Amino acid sequence: MKAILLAGGKGTRLRPLTIHTPKPIVPIFGRPFLHYQIDLVRQLPEVDEVILSLNYQPRRIEEIFGHGDGLGVKLSYVVEPVPLGTAGAVRYAGQALEETVIVFNGDVMTQVDLAAVLRLHRERKAKATIVLTPVDNPTAYGLVETDADSNVRRFLEKPKPEEITCNTINAGIYVLEPHTFDRIPKETAWSIERSYFPSLVERGETFVAYVYDGYWIDIGTPEKYAQVHHDIMARRFVAPPFASAPPDCRLVSPAARLEDGVTIEGPCFVDEGVYIKPGAHVAPYSVLGRQCIIEEDARVEGSIIWANGRIGRDAVVRDSILGRHCHVGRNAVLGGGIVLGDKSVVTDYSRL
Ligand code: GDD
Ligand code: MG
Repeated sequence: MKAILLAGGKGTRLRPLTIHTPKPIVPIFGRPFLHYQIDLVRQLPEVDEVILSLNYQPRRIEEIFGHGDGLGVKLSYVVEPVPLGTAGAVRYAGQALEETVIVFNGDVMTQVDLAAVLRLHRERKAKATIVLTPVDNPTAYGLVETDADSNVRRFLEKPKPEEITCNTINAGIYVLEPHTFDRIPKETAWSIERSYFPSLVERGETFVAYVYDGYWIDIGTPEKYAQVHHDIMARRFVAPPFASAPPDCRLVSPAARLEDGVTIEGPCFVDEGVYIKPGAHVAPYSVLGRQCIIEEDARVEGSIIWANGRIGRDAVVRDSILGRHCHVGRNAVLGGGIVLGDKSVVTDYSRL
C-alpha cells in the first residue's frame, strides 16, 4: 500500500520562516517536520512506500530524506510542473495506483490510529474515508457534517462564521480509492476540499468519517508552530525528543557548553554546540538550535531559536521565533509574538 504526502504548499502563513525552508522541513527541535509524519505512517506496516508530492523547493527536501534509507519506509518524489491543488496533486502523484491509498496533508501532527481508520474504510467498503477532529473555531479548516452512521453529508472548506453548523473539521488524512480520481481533471489546479469531496457527497457515494479527538494540530502558522513545541515539551503530545526526557523535561545536549552561573529551567531543549555564557538565563519552553550563542546575562524565555542564532549580552527574547543565523544585539528586547526570518539582525538596544 502507498501513502501520498501532500507537501507542495508554499507555507505562506509560516513566512518568513518558510522563505528559505519549505514547510515540510521546518525544524521541530532541530528535526525536520516530515520525520514526525513518517513516524505516523510507519504505524501501518502495510505501507511500503511514501510518495512525497512536492513543488516548492523540492530539491531541499530530497537532499534531506533521499530514498528513505534508515527511515523504515521507501520514499519517492513526484514534483508537479505547476501547483495542481490538493486533488490535482493526488491524481498526479497517484496516476499509476490501483489499490487503496492513504493521503496526508503534509503539515499535520497527530497520533490517530491509522489501522482503525483503514479498518473502518474496509468494513464500510467506502470510496473515501476521512479523519475528522473537533476544534473550537472551524473557519480556518474544512467543516465536515456527518449523519448518525458516520456518513459525510456536507464538506465546506473555510466556512464563514455564520456557516458553522458543527465543530468537526477535516484533519487532513484520507483513505481513497484511486478509481474515483477519474473525475479530477488532468493538468488543472483542482481542490480535494472544494471539488473532489463535495462531488462524492453529491453523487451519494460511500464517504465515511472517522472522528478522532486526541492530539491533532496543523503547524501552518507561527502560533501553531510554537504550540507544537510547547505541547511536546509539556508532554501533551508524546513525541521525540521528549518521549524519553527526564522528569524535569530539561533536554540539554551533552555537546552544549554551559558556563558557570547559567540558569536553565525545564522544560527546554538545548541542542548540540550551543554555548551559554555566565549569567544567562534560559527560562521554560525555550528551544535553542544547534550552535546558538547566548551571551552574558541574556534571557531567553518561551522562544524558539533556530540554529546559529546569537543573543547579545543583556538582551531579552520572549515568546518569539527566530529563523537561522539571527543576531539579536546587546540589551535588545523582543517582547513577545516576534517572528524573524533567517539572518535577521536586531540592532543593540532595539525594542520590538
Ligand atoms: N503537491 C501539492 N500541490 N501540495 C499542495 C498543494 C499543491 O498545489 N496545495 C497545498 N498542498 C499541500 C500543503 O503543502 C499542505 O501540506 C496540504 O496540501 C494542505 O494545504 P494547506 O495550505 O496547509 O491547507 P489548509 O491548512 O489551509 O487546509 C487544509 O488542511 C486543513 C487541516 O489542517 C484543508 O485540507 C482543510 O480542509 C483542513 O481542515
Ligand atoms: Mg495546513
